[in-house]
Amino acid sequence: MKIIEHPSEMQVFSNTIRKTDQTIGFVPTMGYLHKGHISLLDAARKNCDQVVLSIFVNPTQFGPGEDLSVYPRDLPKDFKIAEKAGVDIVFTPTDNGLYGKNYQTYVYLKQLPNYLCGIHRPHHFQGVSTIVSKLFNMVKPHKAFFGEKDYQQLAVIRQMVLDLNFDIAIVGCPIVREHDGLAMSSRNVYLSDAQRASALSLNQSLKSTQQYLFKGVIDTETLINKAKDLINSQQETKIEYIRICHKDTLDDIQTVNEDCLMALAVHVGKTRLIDNTILQLEK
Ligand code: PAJ
Repeated sequence: MKIIEHPSEMQVFSNTIRKTDQTIGFVPTMGYLHKGHISLLDAARKNCDQVVLSIFVNPTQFGPGEDLSVYPRDLPKDFKIAEKAGVDIVFTPTDNGLYGKNYQTYVYLKQLPNYLCGIHRPHHFQGVSTIVSKLFNMVKPHKAFFGEKDYQQLAVIRQMVLDLNFDIAIVGCPIVREHDGLAMSSRNVYLSDAQRASALSLNQSLKSTQQYLFKGVIDTETLINKAKDLINSQQETKIEYIRICHKDTLDDIQTVNEDCLMALAVHVGKTRLIDNTILQLEK
């Protein structure tokens, strides 16, 4: 496994690979790897000849007062996990290498960031679309793999790739969960035992909403209120949003009459967690 720090070295490597007609699969991450990330690496390994993993905690997607400075990092452990997952290249650029003193260019989407997480994190998706564009230009992948855990992020990337004519296939991969249903996240390490127990209510509320829907409750206000009650009954939870919306446009819906997205963000203590599911109208 090769470690590359410099963007130009990454580009030279990718150009060389492309000349040999091999395909490059790319998994962008902020590191502190867990089984969710590994599932993306496995998908890349199955689909492509060369697997590139990037690890970069991207400052432009964090807002003031968010957890940029304390975001968990453990590069030596990440390298071990990456090697075991069959990664060929780990790309670890630095802030200075990616955002020079005179940096000026941002990628901004007009519509999709104005929903769900984007309402509460106003510049977040601009930071994400900018860094992912930059990484695409450095790694030059044929396919890039993203988790459905960050459903809105995946939607933003798919739209950006379409709008900006990136010649890259975007592959969405299912949410990987702990044995008790908590969605895997690098931020789960922040949780105390009591908070972790409370955090189970995120997935539980998604699952119980699906059951209410199967029983014929199709009014989204009623469904959301039931989910709110469940989460609020747990210690240290503070709901940021719970939404039931169209799975492509992300527009809120009042009555469920087709499969749709249920997405939520909840602060458990100081930790912000997100989760989502596609609600099925029929079994
Ligand atoms: P990060 O949070 O490290 O996540 C990297 C990738 O792993 C994302 O595509 C995310 O959706 C996926 N992922 C995280 N937890 C997952 C889980 N439990 N199951 C399946 N996939 C999961 O997302 C980012 O980094 C950044 O915004 C990034 C795209 C790298 C841009 O900076």
